[in-house]
Amino acid sequence: MLTLDGISVAYGAVEVLHGVSLRVEAGELVCLLGANGAGKSTTVRAISGLLRPTAGRISFLGERLDGRPAHAVLERGIAQCPEGRRIFPEMNVLENLEMGAYVRGGQGARPEDLERVFHHFPRLKERLGQLGGTLSGGEQQMLAIARALMSRPRFLMLDEPSLGIMPRLVDSILEALAQIHRAEGLAMFLVEQNVPAALDLATRGYVLQTGRVVLEGSSRELLDSELVRKAYLGI
Ligand SMILES: Nc1ncnc2c1ncn2[C@@H]1O[C@H](COP(=O)(O)OP(=O)(O)O)[C@@H](O)[C@H]1O
Ligand SMILES: [Mg+2]
Repeated sequence: MLTLDGISVAYGAVEVLHGVSLRVEAGELVCLLGANGAGKSTTVRAISGLLRPTAGRISFLGERLDGRPAHAVLERGIAQCPEGRRIFPEMNVLENLEMGAYVRGGQGARPEDLERVFHHFPRLKERLGQLGGTLSGGEQQMLAIARALMSRPRFLMLDEPSLGIMPRLVDSILEALAQIHRAEGLAMFLVEQNVPAALDLATRGYVLQTGRVVLEGSSRELLDSELVRKAYLGI
């Protein structure tokens, strides 16, 4: 479904991704693991069209994606939930969700789409009129995911959804993602530093170190690997 083939990305003269290759097939939940600064967010931003690779190729459903503007990528059905959950703080929950639907170019939020996100995140339904900026970190993350779902994506990228969130809410967010994946078969690309949680959710994954994929495999293989055990699980 999505293929990255030898992608390099630079900020100015500094190259931070050096020939990254990975793929996500339809219906898969694939994770990208790596320490701070490894290049995970850069990879996500390259896919979503916010950064232009200096080398390599990105394709989605057989169509070349790199070099296209971010709105064109979104229109193809690739939604992202960016790091740091950038919701609109001055808009209430419903208005944030409507913004998600708007990017689809449609007629606002459809009732069935709202029902779908409330089913996965009942807390949002209870807080429809509350301003985004006054939600807790975990609730903002739920809203960011829900907003991305409102665009009816074919492919959802999540950049560290568990970062800086209370453990109790992390579980319910990850459980909601698992449920969405199970129930709808939505293909997802999950970027995480929370390695045990990510490998629990994903079927397959990649490990990124200083801009290079150093390991890939099934979640089981990664969990059993020396590299992941030593570097990310501390065992
Ligand atoms: N806007 C930017 N300008 C310059 N360098 C950046 C920028 N964003 C990230 N970097 C650098 O690129 C590297 C990868 O960053 P990033 O993709 O954010 O890593 P991760 O998401 O894995 O923590 C880091 O060395 C970081 O300092
Ligand atoms: Mg990041």
